[in-house]
Amino acid sequence: MPASLSTAFFTSFYKAVVRTTLFRFPPETVHHWAMAGLACGAVTRPMGLLCRESFPTLRRTLWGIEFPNPLGVAAGFDKDALAPLAWERLGFGYVELGTVTRHAQPGNPKPRIFRLPPQHGLINRMGFPNDGAAAMAARLGKLRGRGAWPSIPVGINIGKSKITPLEEAAADYVESFRLLRDYADYFVVNVSSPNTPGLRSLQGRDALLGILGPLQEENGRGAGKRKPIAVKIAPDLRDDELGPILDAIVEAGCDGVVATNTTVNKNAVPLKEEGGLSGLPLRARSTEVIAQVARHLGGRLPILGVGGIFTAEDAKEKLDAGATLLQAYTGFIYEGPAFARRVCAGLAKA
Ligand SMILES: Cc1cc2nc3c(=O)[nH]c(=O)nc-3n(C[C@H](O)[C@H](O)[C@H](O)COP(=O)(O)O)c2cc1C
Repeated sequence: MPASLSTAFFTSFYKAVVRTTLFRFPPETVHHWAMAGLACGAVTRPMGLLCRESFPTLRRTLWGIEFPNPLGVAAGFDKDALAPLAWERLGFGYVELGTVTRHAQPGNPKPRIFRLPPQHGLINRMGFPNDGAAAMAARLGKLRGRGAWPSIPVGINIGKSKITPLEEAAADYVESFRLLRDYADYFVVNVSSPNTPGLRSLQGRDALLGILGPLQEENGRGAGKRKPIAVKIAPDLRDDELGPILDAIVEAGCDGVVATNTTVNKNAVPLKEEGGLSGLPLRARSTEVIAQVARHLGGRLPILGVGGIFTAEDAKEKLDAGATLLQAYTGFIYEGPAFARRVCAGLAKA
């Protein structure tokens, strides 16, 4: 059977049988099952036969790093680096681990993820549950010690610990960066999650410079190679807020913008649970922000586009709007394990 037919069949089977069954269980329970499966090579290696394909025309080089294709796993899926070897087998071109914080924390009370199947969306208010930066460093150190490292680039997304006051945010980010710098090809500073109180206020120009300045100082210190640092922004910024934020990101010597995080605007969906909305209802707004960012930056920094990518057409829309790399989370849940391969196959044909 040709590869495109077998992935189409696999995707139909996933949607009709696997997804229908999994969607009967709470989203976070299913996520834990999925992560357990993904952490197990015996599960992901055979999956690789169906889901992994190389697309030479989709290769990208950014920051001197080679990406086998532009579609990465968005932050939040593998928060604790539990399955770093799985993502290349599923056909992704890179993975962004985290968000990880300096201090381990439990996140918000459950339930904290909600599905919107008719709209192909999710609302989450996870609040960065994670084992902390030191635990992630130990886990990745062990992996490297075993000589088993992903062949795709690895980004690490860092956030502020809930217990750290906003005034001490810089030191919190710097310490996570210091603990993890040897394990990431690039870093993302997350100041745009709606689920950590006050976090998005760090997107203001002065607050942003107050974090990015010390981070870049640490980045330039020591014998280690300087790591690219991008900043992840919210889709809910007003037009007049966006320009000064982007100028601050450039001024701080950062290397990219990740656009966008989830939105707090739930006008398009019937469920009004507190948290951030992702998936198809976010797609158009995220693309609009990417286009605005691209216009403002005029090519000064690359954009990593994320928000509502389900198909190759969605991916192309974001590339056309000005993104260099792409990421997805919700589309992977709705489309299943062959998601990355199908998007990349479509992009390669376009
Ligand atoms: C359950 C869930 C958890 C998430 N956790 C994080 C996170 O820890 N850090 C982060 O930067 N973004 C997080 N995100 C946002 C995604 O990385 C992405 O920016 C957003 O979901 C839009 O992309 P999508 O429509 O492809 O899901 C999370 C999204 C979901 C659905």
